[in-house]
Amino acid sequence: MERFVIEGGVPLSGTTGVRPSKNALLPCLAATLLTDQTVTFSDSADLMDIASMLDLLRHLGVETDGEPGGPLTLRASSLSGLEAPYELVRKMRASIVVLGPMLARGGRARVSLPGGCAIGARPVDQHLKALEAMGAEITVDHGYVEATAKRLRGADVVFDMATVGGTQNVLMAAVLAEGESVLHNSAREPEITDLADLLSKMGARIEGAGTDTIRVRGVSSLAGARHTCIPDRIEAGTLLMAGLITGGHVTVSPAVPDHLEALLAKLRAMGAAIRVDGGAIGASCLGGLNAADVMTAPFPGFPTDLQAQFVALLTRARGVGTVKETIFENRFMHVPELARMGADIRVDGNVAMVAGSDLSGAPVMASDLRASACLVLAGLCAEGKTEVRRIYHLDRGYQRLEERLQALGARVRREKD
Ligand code: UD1
Repeated sequence: MERFVIEGGVPLSGTTGVRPSKNALLPCLAATLLTDQTVTFSDSADLMDIASMLDLLRHLGVETDGEPGGPLTLRASSLSGLEAPYELVRKMRASIVVLGPMLARGGRARVSLPGGCAIGARPVDQHLKALEAMGAEITVDHGYVEATAKRLRGADVVFDMATVGGTQNVLMAAVLAEGESVLHNSAREPEITDLADLLSKMGARIEGAGTDTIRVRGVSSLAGARHTCIPDRIEAGTLLMAGLITGGHVTVSPAVPDHLEALLAKLRAMGAAIRVDGGAIGASCLGGLNAADVMTAPFPGFPTDLQAQFVALLTRARGVGTVKETIFENRFMHVPELARMGADIRVDGNVAMVAGSDLSGAPVMASDLRASACLVLAGLCAEGKTEVRRIYHLDRGYQRLEERLQALGARVRREKD
């Protein structure tokens, strides 16, 4: 297993790149199942999750060309299999987004249930309920979802909560359904708008992506397209906070400021100077940061995927800040690890109260993707040496993060056990 060894205390400075968004790429790659034509992505991220999605798509009969981290070309001339097996799905929960497109194109799909993960139970009931409303017959047996539908029909769907994966799955089913679908209470995340952009290029008729009501008029077939996925807003936010936590100044590019507004507004309120220049965002702070209160919420609210990193940042701020997690039920696993580094944090239910304190380096254990990023940030500002173990969690979402941190001046290296 690999770990990061970090010597803390170096203010980061400079400009760093941001890779294409993993969470945008995953559904966009699944969308290639909807057409027998070629879909090309100008760039991708070199991440295990992207490799896992490509493995799954190849298993379903998609021809792929290119490697994660570079341009990718996919063509699903015909689907050779309509089953996403447990061995492939268990590696990555987001595999469930193949269900909608497989069903829409092939009339049948058998997909292993993804199951929970460290941060929560993460059911997929909303995905299934919506597909049933569109005429699919669905059974859940032996850990698999089995769905059949000769041709899906457009339907009015009301999601009980804003679900990113659910909205994506149902949107991909609706584009090839017969008639009109209206998706009420849809999630509004930029990754959904990006998917809708790709689908529209392929010939889908979609209105309202990025709002909570998405209207889709089904078409009988879709064509190929070329697409560039949006830059990863979570990676950009993590790198900006890495700069601030060390008292340095980091600029990220490319980035879309609108995608990060909730974070940027909070950082400004804490006393950070934020500079936006086209597709570049810079953050610095001369006089230190003041604490702030944050509540995670679906977009355009504060992203749950930046919550752990924000908790790390609050340990460096003056005063006490509270962080309320409203999306996932078990997303404070970074807190006991931060406490081992000297952080003063009290958790009560889904609220963490974080008091500013000096951190000292320690061996810590990453429990999930964003918790690992939080611990790396803590290590960057802690006095002395921090070892972040189980860095494979980090590698699922950040392409060789240590190289970018090194380029900004951080003393961080990857070591094998
Ligand atoms: C996506 C992101 C993840 C992010 C999350 C919330 C990807 C690959 N992952 O995950 O990084 O943290 O959005 O912004 O894009 N829920 C149900 N039933 C459902 C679906 C969801 O109860 O059928 C619940 C979930 O348990 C969770 C909440 O709704 O509490 C939001 O989940 P959802 O938006 O679906 O998250 P993902 O798409 O899995």
